[in-house]
Amino acid sequence: MILSVINKKGGVGKTPISFSLAKDLGFYLQSNDNSVIESIYPDMAKITEHPALLDNCVYDFGGFVDAGVLKIIKESDAVLIPCSTDYNSIIRTVETIDEIQPYAKMIIVLVTKTEKEGDFSSVENAVSKHFDEIQFFELRLSKAFKNAIETGLSLTELYHETPLSKSAYKTIYNQYLNVLKLFKND
Ligand SMILES: Nc1ncnc2c1ncn2[C@@H]1O[C@H](COP(=O)(O)OP(=O)(O)OP(=O)(O)O)[C@@H](O)[C@H]1O
Ligand SMILES: [Mg+2]
Repeated sequence: MILSVINKKGGVGKTPISFSLAKDLGFYLQSNDNSVIESIYPDMAKITEHPALLDNCVYDFGGFVDAGVLKIIKESDAVLIPCSTDYNSIIRTVETIDEIQPYAKMIIVLVTKTEKEGDFSSVENAVSKHFDEIQFFELRLSKAFKNAIETGLSLTELYHETPLSKSAYKTIYNQYLNVLKLFKND
């Protein structure tokens, strides 16, 4: 299975989400964008300007959508697009979907960093009016993602650490599981 996580907008959560999914699925992780993934996910993560096509891999794509990116998008079972709730992120998300939709088998928008009632549906409404057949999932604002990048633990590993972490991460972990379960077959 191949998963691509992409958005031209920065700071929407591509790297923590792709890292956590890759680790929980036991997949490789490749990125064309600088980050700490090679040190927190040794032997499994690789940063390179032109990531190679590899099975059982999650791709964390930032920046421009070039021919190499499109080649991997075409082979991806699903393309995940994290989008935070600000106006600029929505604009860039619509642009990103416009560019990749002709090549993608399945597009899933992850509405990230939601804080209040209505954040999710306002992003869903704004994006879905431009496109058909896109699924939306919510990943609310949470320290779990920063902790994942700092500790090298996936959201599943963080959640299971202690009774306290289970209670602190209950909501975000359940939201994350809804996404993970799409790709985990056990
Ligand atoms: N629900 C969430 N999903 C994703 N990230 C979140 C969430 N809540 C908080 N964050 C925080 O938002 C930030 C998003 O991650 P990051 O800036 O690495 O995204 P990115 O899309 O990979 O950005 P860049 O394009 O700069 O690489 C992190 O600091 C993360 O801890
Ligand atoms: Mg990143």
